[in-house]
Amino acid sequence: MEPKVIKRIGVLTSGGDSPGMNAAIRAAVRTGFYYNIEMFGIYRGYEGMIHNEIKKLDSKNIAHVLERGGTFLKSARSEEFRTPEGRQKAYENLKAHGIDALVVIGGDGSLTGAHLFYKEFGIPAVGLPGTIDNDLSGTDSTIGFDTACNTAIQAIDKIRDTATSHDRLFFVEVMGRDAGFIAINAGIGSAAAAILIPEKKMPIEDLVEKLKVRTKAKKTSNIVIVAEGGKSGGAAEIASKVKKLLPYYDIKVTILGHLQRGGAPSSFDRLLASKLGVAAVEGLLHGKYDVMAGLINHKVVYTPIKKAIVDDKTVDEDDFRVAKILST
Ligand code: F6P
Repeated sequence: MEPKVIKRIGVLTSGGDSPGMNAAIRAAVRTGFYYNIEMFGIYRGYEGMIHNEIKKLDSKNIAHVLERGGTFLKSARSEEFRTPEGRQKAYENLKAHGIDALVVIGGDGSLTGAHLFYKEFGIPAVGLPGTIDNDLSGTDSTIGFDTACNTAIQAIDKIRDTATSHDRLFFVEVMGRDAGFIAINAGIGSAAAAILIPEKKMPIEDLVEKLKVRTKAKKTSNIVIVAEGGKSGGAAEIASKVKKLLPYYDIKVTILGHLQRGGAPSSFDRLLASKLGVAAVEGLLHGKYDVMAGLINHKVVYTPIKKAIVDDKTVDEDDFRVAKILST
């Protein structure tokens, strides 16, 4: 597509926050300044677009944000943006500020919003994959996923200490919505006895059998990782089913929850966010619209948003094999 002349770009973060979003905003804004573009922060995602929470950014706004978790632009899940009236209001506000393109940092819902907005109003947008869930195609890793896995592993290591001291069986629930990427990574990285993820069914009888074998092998601590979106229920539900079948186990449940979303981004996430922030603005300047910038094999790749949000990224079969070998 022939590039439009772009003079003002708005940046927003939307949906669940993820570590590295600040680094991505900073990179996009700095790149805009490098190319003499005026950069605007749209606060609270699409909600802020609708309610005109839009401010021009200067270099002070982005000083010392790279290393911080969360998003200084704040985030929200906007119901109003799902309506044509909400999107119309958002468009009027962008027009009033003379904003002619967007960088949207978020998960599949946020990128879907950018795609719809482009279709309806022709506002060019480049999306960046900002979610701890890693459930977007078109990138090997999403911004925040690596940090979330590190955070989960650190927490599980601590649980391991107390589990071993008391010979207990722990069920640890991790986030990921309906994807098992955090679970499989954190599970392999923390020597879990078993990993339950939505993508793969493990009947309760198989889990019980596995635990029995480990008891015979005199394993003193057992940690089972449960992805939150599993069809057989969360960690508490599975723990109570196992307790009925293995009553002699002292069982505890820990739900890691939102602590996985916080904290300073890892070195990997800082680099990923920085590269993609630059790619977002350069993409817009080169006429790449309605796409998501991602990193595949260390190279920037632009994937149509429609393709990136299709739920076809699955946990690698080989990760399963590895997890199985290492937990027997
Ligand atoms: O998409 C990121 C995520 O943290 C999911 O892993 C989780 O299911 C969801 O957001 C939680 O959303 P909220 O913070 O709105 O409760």
